[in-house]
Amino acid sequence: MSSIKIQKICCIGAGYVGGPTMSVIADKCPDLEVRVVDINKDRIEAWNDSDLTKLPIFEPGLDRIISRTRGRNLFFSLEMEKSISDADMVFISVNTPTKTKGLGAGQASDLSWVEASARQVAKYAKGHTIVIEKSTLPVRTAQAIKEILKTTTNRENQKNDISKTFSVLSNPEFLAEGTAINDLEKPDRVLIGGEDPEAVEALVNIYLNWVPSEQIICTNLWSSELSKLAANAFLAQRISSINSISAFCEATGADVQEVAKAIGTDKRIGDQFLSAGPGFGGSCFKKDILNLVYLSGYFGLPEVANYWNQVVLLNTWQQDRIYKIVLEKLFGTVNGKNIAILGFSFKANTNDTRESPAIRISCDLLEEGANLSIYDPKVSVERVEEDLEKTSFNNQGTWKMVNSIPEALKNVDAVLIITAWDEFFGLDWNYLASLMRSPAWVFDTRSVINRQEIENTGINLWKLGEGS
Ligand code: UDX
Ligand code: UDX
Repeated sequence: MSSIKIQKICCIGAGYVGGPTMSVIADKCPDLEVRVVDINKDRIEAWNDSDLTKLPIFEPGLDRIISRTRGRNLFFSLEMEKSISDADMVFISVNTPTKTKGLGAGQASDLSWVEASARQVAKYAKGHTIVIEKSTLPVRTAQAIKEILKTTTNRENQKNDISKTFSVLSNPEFLAEGTAINDLEKPDRVLIGGEDPEAVEALVNIYLNWVPSEQIICTNLWSSELSKLAANAFLAQRISSINSISAFCEATGADVQEVAKAIGTDKRIGDQFLSAGPGFGGSCFKKDILNLVYLSGYFGLPEVANYWNQVVLLNTWQQDRIYKIVLEKLFGTVNGKNIAILGFSFKANTNDTRESPAIRISCDLLEEGANLSIYDPKVSVERVEEDLEKTSFNNQGTWKMVNSIPEALKNVDAVLIITAWDEFFGLDWNYLASLMRSPAWVFDTRSVINRQEIENTGINLWKLGEGS
């Protein structure tokens, strides 16, 4: 047994990773007190809202867990100092976006928030504290965190005549949005990297409350950090691979669904992450691959950098390709035409739009002068507004957010399905066709429509990856 007894945990960052992860830890470990802190007041207020539909993130099953843990042993607060000083273990789960300025801009990760968090831990912690990297970070970031903790602490200790010590661990999160609760409750594996066996054991003991020991993998710090980047890069690479094949299918008359099934039944390949679509989105894939590209360059491995960069280039190409197909099918112009966008989140079952293919495709259409009516069951109008205004340079068209699929399709020339929300499957296309202008087009980038459903409606259907 580890001699370190963990009673109180603090997590810095109440986002898509910190919020659900800490909720599940609190649920599975009722004897632990879990405090999630954030600098964003609105976010903390939303986490504390008595109306569970107002939680800052939508994640199936999260509301049930929050309702039984919040106020019991799970607390969301702005109280950084007290939460850190009381904690035996601090998770850092703040955002690490791609740098927009300076050395490595466009590729390297911006670690300002991680550094700021480490400084706060160094300042406020008391006694021995285990610090855990939860955010996805470049390899060897733990070293930087250790140095910040050491130097800041030396100064603090001299000033206050107290002693504080730290152990740093890496414990990357592999949850996917939309299935976060299931992924956290039944993870394929938990990865813990670190050199201090007692600290590692203390964290292992927390996970042992619900994860079988054979699924807890312990490695050195650097392997753990790199494994997270590599896992995301491999997953994204599969998507770019199948998307490249989707274009090939369209050119040759093959069908990407059939090809995916045929290759996915080979056990060595496996059937996951073979759905062709409008390209991967989400906060991690692009950022993490670009980070890998940057680090490969930094370590003098340009061939490795080029290899991974191609995965991102193919992803952008896929989005551009879709927009160009829409343009081509609508006689080369969408100026003044009405187009419905079904789905704005980067995937189904989340309200997250970070890097959603819908943003780039919508902005390209707006720049061509299209009028968009956008429907998404979970994404807010404020979110869409921010995304479109941030990305569009020369908006010639108009956009509005609507509350239902029929409203979105009223008088449109075309419908573009970008997210595979359940409610987009099995629609009554006979009725919907009567709302649309003629000739009417449906562009299905997620294969939610079965060709027979649309037969005899007069609608022209283009399906990604389906050759004619
Ligand atoms: C983020 C990263 O995107 C991902 O790479 C990493 O693995 C985990 O952290 P996510 O939880 O999805 O994932 O980010 P986000 O929803 O933006 O949440 C981060 C939170 O940290 C925000 O609520 C932000 O206000 C908070 N934060 C940021 C702090 O509390 N303190 C800071 O100094 C900076
Ligand atoms: C991903 C990783 O899966 C997760 O392990 C990591 O912790 C964070 O990054 P997430 O981004 O939430 O999770 O979702 P994921 O299900 O991986 O989907 C990412 C993107 O790829 C989405 O835009 C999705 O639509 C797309 N995708 C996924 C496909 O286009 N085809 C597929 O077959 C699978």
